[in-house]
Amino acid sequence: MTRNIGILGAMAQEIDEVKALLTEKTTVKIANREFVVGKIGNVRCVVAFSKWGKVAATITATLLIQEFAVTDLIFIGTAGALAEGLNVGDIVISKRLVQHDLDARPIISRFELPLLNRVYVDSDPGLTELAGKAVTNVLNKGVVNMVGTEAVKEFNLNPKLHFGDIASGDQFINSNEKRNEILGLLPDVLCVEMEGAAVAQVCLEFGTPFTVIRTISDTADHNARVDFGKFIVEVANAYSRAIVGEIMRLV
Ligand code: ADE
Repeated sequence: MTRNIGILGAMAQEIDEVKALLTEKTTVKIANREFVVGKIGNVRCVVAFSKWGKVAATITATLLIQEFAVTDLIFIGTAGALAEGLNVGDIVISKRLVQHDLDARPIISRFELPLLNRVYVDSDPGLTELAGKAVTNVLNKGVVNMVGTEAVKEFNLNPKLHFGDIASGDQFINSNEKRNEILGLLPDVLCVEMEGAAVAQVCLEFGTPFTVIRTISDTADHNARVDFGKFIVEVANAYSRAIVGEIMRLV
């Protein structure tokens, strides 16, 4: 079957950079969302801004699968680091996704997905490996080539790639109290964001392979809000474009 890869991004600016890679473009609007259909290299793609939060991302992911028949779904965006040893500019690729704000106790256990009998959703091993290769290649070319010397200095970038669990919830986490609470309950989680686990649940139900790629933009503590906007403009946009371009070269 010909691949038709859905690319979802959490920030409009990041996804604009990815849209710029597309050739033979057409834009389709559904439910206040723009889906750009085209090709990157020889690979058919549909690129869309997910919008923020689990519900918004669920709508966008469902439309990608149902209306555009994507065969794979890749989510790209930023995240706040929870685990020690992760730094701003590092990249996390998902092994498993969990919703840190889901709690239907006492009917079922904390974090359990209702009627799905699990807490975690596994990302697709093949897509995750592909994303890993692409990120490795991009990082081997040097982060300066991607973002320029100014941004490397400003954010003290020395990016490393990590594979692990990602937690999602409808909250921007920017306090030590909240980050430590999540980490206390879900100690294997590397980083936190607002969409990945929702997309994972959609993909589980539809049987669509997916993976999530997140660049660490902040440490989910009291500095989180200040760092965020600047980081998107100066770093995350360039990462997304380079990583998605490399994924399509490797497909
Ligand atoms: N995305 C990037 N940083 C985040 C944070 N601190 N909390 C939730 N989502 C994020």
